[in-house]
Amino acid sequence: MKSIQVGLLGIGTVGGGVFNVLQRNQEEILRRAGRGIEITMVADLDTARAQAVVGSSVQVVADARAVIANPEIDIVVELIGGYGIARQLVMEAIEAGKHVVTANKALLAVHGTEIFAAAHRKGVMVAFEAAVAGGIPIIKSLREGLTANRIEWIAGIINGTTNFILSEMRDKGLDFEVVLKEAQRLGYAEADPTFDIEGVDAAHKAALMSAIAFGIPVQFDKAYVEGITQLAAQDIKYAEKLGYRIKLLGITKKTAKGIELRVHPCLVPVKRLIANVEGAMNAVMVHGDAVGTTMYYGKGAGSEPTASAVIADLVDITRLHTSDPLHRVPHLAFQPDAMSDTPV
Ligand code: HSE
Repeated sequence: MKSIQVGLLGIGTVGGGVFNVLQRNQEEILRRAGRGIEITMVADLDTARAQAVVGSSVQVVADARAVIANPEIDIVVELIGGYGIARQLVMEAIEAGKHVVTANKALLAVHGTEIFAAAHRKGVMVAFEAAVAGGIPIIKSLREGLTANRIEWIAGIINGTTNFILSEMRDKGLDFEVVLKEAQRLGYAEADPTFDIEGVDAAHKAALMSAIAFGIPVQFDKAYVEGITQLAAQDIKYAEKLGYRIKLLGITKKTAKGIELRVHPCLVPVKRLIANVEGAMNAVMVHGDAVGTTMYYGKGAGSEPTASAVIADLVDITRLHTSDPLHRVPHLAFQPDAMSDTPV
């Protein structure tokens, strides 16, 4: 069967990761998806750099609309970011009948209702595992693994930049500004780091999780948002003396009065697992009525962790487009590798 054809809009850090992981793990991905998944077209303003990443066998164009207009493309992956042109292109891709995979939490947090409604009308998918907590499969956990539960609350460290800043300020006694620069140098921070340090990025992600967990529209505009810019090194030191760590948490909770949605620094007792999540790592706790409290930990940003989530969405969509019913039941398609003769 012909491979699913994917068009990438933007090939920066994450796009490069998607290309590399798809190439490296193509055998496993084919086996699990039931069909090959191939990037056949890339749009990026820097065509020379893009061509160097993907090689000569992939068509590179400067105009993203050429990807959307290509009838051969089944899935458009939006990795441009921001609300401006990305919103127009995602809407146009949906109107053109393409499935969309995006890592753009800002776009979905602000325009998600309009985008999901358009996708519903056209009968296409908009998948966004990479938009929340990078490589941690939290969207699939909420939608699939925890689907039997009434979700009662979610609380998570969902911004790596601020967790890195808080960890470094505590461990090394460094100033906020110094650590922020280091986070930017390491590529954790958003293009505009205000979104990270003011809690906006975490609120985007919390709004998306809240919508899925409680079956409500995405309501980022209703969130209480407070970042870490008002915290001094002394606050962190005193908290530590009292047995607490300061963590920027994204929280959403079902209460008798409605759904709470908030992001702010919290005092977390040091003995709690989540208090010990350090550096740029992410961790999300979800409490369901049947399962109790669960916790998910991993890298919330970076090229291949985010690519891992993008490709998981590509595989999901591909499974819908295979004639082999085995692949509609993923665990049946997930055959173990041949057993080794030698026990390991
Ligand atoms: N700036 C984000 C963070 C990147 O620091 O977590 C991943 O969304």
